[in-house]
Amino acid sequence: MVLSIGTNKIKTAIFISGTGSNLKSLIKFSKLKKSPISINLIITNNKLAKGLKYGIIFKIQKKIINFKNKDIAEKKILKELKKNKIELICLAGFMKILSKNFIKNFKGKILNIHPSLLPKYKGLNTHQRAIENKDKYSGCTVHFVDAKLDSGKIILQKRVNIYKKDTPDSLEKKILAQEHKLYPKAILKIFSL
Ligand code: GRF
Repeated sequence: MVLSIGTNKIKTAIFISGTGSNLKSLIKFSKLKKSPISINLIITNNKLAKGLKYGIIFKIQKKIINFKNKDIAEKKILKELKKNKIELICLAGFMKILSKNFIKNFKGKILNIHPSLLPKYKGLNTHQRAIENKDKYSGCTVHFVDAKLDSGKIILQKRVNIYKKDTPDSLEKKILAQEHKLYPKAILKIFSL
């Protein structure tokens, strides 16, 4: 990964579509002295995303991008990223698939968090699928983003037990609590290499 830390923190944009609990945990992490990143921009495709409130609370610039036309949307995002000198992108519950061309522009500089132990359960409804398959455990993964869905190089994973009483909702809650710790840990890991 060709990112220099220098004396300044790495300017980071977080892409969200919903609740933004990972966004919140990343913002809190970014304020710690040990954090190599600062969060300078929040991008969303969803003007109703609850996570946008963290932009207001923590005074971080937000951009709502209409994805009706993906090509135009991605061009607008690239412009914003450039304007804000963004060096790293963290996808956190961003529900749009970025094009190959977009990813090429930020090669090796886009991270994602996924609520399963990849390569198991790429895509959606991961908790339901793990429970239906009677898996004994599931978990979460932070990985680099490449052109294929949920397929880039894995940075860190955390395992979470599944008990008989678990439902997709209870499992989601347990895994989300681990996601909030795993994303900062993964960022520390890649920048301490
Ligand atoms: C998380 O489970 C994340 O792994 C997945 O989408 C969810 C987003 O949650 N990609 P939040 O918006 O960060 O609360």
